[in-house]
Amino acid sequence: MTDDNFTKVAEVGDIPEGEGEGYEIDGIEIAVFNTGDDYYAISNRCSHQRAPLCKAGDEKINAEDTWTGERGGLNAEACTVSCPWHLWEWDLETGEHEASGQRIGTFDCTVDGEDILVRI
Ligand code: FES
Repeated sequence: MTDDNFTKVAEVGDIPEGEGEGYEIDGIEIAVFNTGDDYYAISNRCSHQRAPLCKAGDEKINAEDTWTGERGGLNAEACTVSCPWHLWEWDLETGEHEASGQRIGTFDCTVDGEDILVRI
């Protein structure tokens, strides 16, 4: 933990542009996405059926390897991520899924030197 309750989760370069990584801070699962312009921290659990959002865009995401292609992923231009399981699209700034009206947590995320920090 650093000042203002920001916690270092990664260093610049750890999260490739266009991708996300999952972290846990005080038992809270978060996903941090790199849009190229900025980093965004959002709950790592989709509120639909709790898929890990950090896996959006990855290949072979379920235990049976049923899906072998990419599914979901980051849309840097729209600043959204679509869930890897059923493609609900989450706004990275507000945490909203417009179609359902549901919202998941978003967290302040900043870069200090080489450190990526998130405030829970
Ligand atoms: S679990 Fe995310 S859309 Fe279904």
